[in-house]
Amino acid sequence: MTALGDLMAARIATTGPITLADYMADCLMHPVHGYYTTRDPLGATGDFTTAPEISQMFGELIGLSLAQAWLDQESPAQITFAELGPGRGTLMADALRATRGVAGFHAALTVHFVETSPRLRAKQAELVPHAHWHDDASTLPDAPLFLIANEFFDALPIRQFTRDAGGWREHMIGVTDGNLTLGLSQAAPLDALDHRLTDTKDGDVIEVCPALPAIVGHVAGLIDTHGGAALIFDYGDWQSQGDTLQALAGHKATDPFVTPGQADLTAHVDFAAIAAAATTYTRVTPQGMFLERLGITARAQTLAKGLTGDALTSHIEAHRRLTHPDAMGNLFKVIGLYPNGGTPPAGLNP
Ligand SMILES: C[S@@+](CC[C@H](N)C(=O)[O-])C[C@H]1O[C@@H](n2cnc3c(N)ncnc32)[C@H](O)[C@@H]1O
Repeated sequence: MTALGDLMAARIATTGPITLADYMADCLMHPVHGYYTTRDPLGATGDFTTAPEISQMFGELIGLSLAQAWLDQESPAQITFAELGPGRGTLMADALRATRGVAGFHAALTVHFVETSPRLRAKQAELVPHAHWHDDASTLPDAPLFLIANEFFDALPIRQFTRDAGGWREHMIGVTDGNLTLGLSQAAPLDALDHRLTDTKDGDVIEVCPALPAIVGHVAGLIDTHGGAALIFDYGDWQSQGDTLQALAGHKATDPFVTPGQADLTAHVDFAAIAAAATTYTRVTPQGMFLERLGITARAQTLAKGLTGDALTSHIEAHRRLTHPDAMGNLFKVIGLYPNGGTPPAGLNP
């Protein structure tokens, strides 16, 4: 087991089994041994690759969609241009470069990052040195908010429950023979899960992300009060269905309970939970469709003109990965938040 696993086993021996959310929180963000605390996991040499690391086109088109939302809202003079979990800062850097030509936009914006990992904050500062950093979304300024989140919510800890005789048994982490093991609590009714009694049956697993409602609620509140828009991308669907917890190390799936703190842990995002915490939101739209509507193919053709050989081949492959239904195009979805009575962000429908 890892050093973090030993710490967790000692804690469990003293105070009893912990929820999956507590386990994930320690694995990802433990101040000494957490996965994001100790490394930059992105890219070919890391454990996984994200859309902005695949191609500059992703951040460029998102930046332009949000700049259009700013124009649609009569160009407020002082705005927050924010990102939740910005990774290496690549998406924001691409969004800023693409929007340089939007008159007045850069003069109006201040960049804010919500990021807990000191390692990644340092990376972000290399690409976007003038950003302001926050530990969580609650301290974002009281101002119009134009916000991006890509693969942020899938990194937030989840709880899992199995339905049993009209109640729910929570998936808990205990210790058996020195190893961390998954067990189930006694079945109990849970008011907060009553709405899932209609679309599940005994034996079904559902997932809940406890931190999500407060974060989305706060972002939506700022947008409702001051104006703005949010684009939230992730893999997942309308309502959680089944066990989607997965661990990745070196671009390969691994057991989530064997090397705590050394593998990335994620779960699919429940877009219905985002909608429930927001006020005005768009349809959930496949990423490929969103990017096509914003003109990714025309942009890809323009960029292709300057490329030859391997660079051209990888550019064509990047376009396919971002948009094709067999790659990220369908698995990844986007939902937009915008002010009541306003115009939805470009690329999305009410
Ligand atoms: C999967 S990476 C995505 C990075 C980036 N958005 C991209 O698309 O390349 C998740 C990001 O969220 C950050 N993160 C994870 N949990 C967080 C939390 N609870 N609060 C703030 N940032 C968090 C990570 O440090 C990392 O920057």
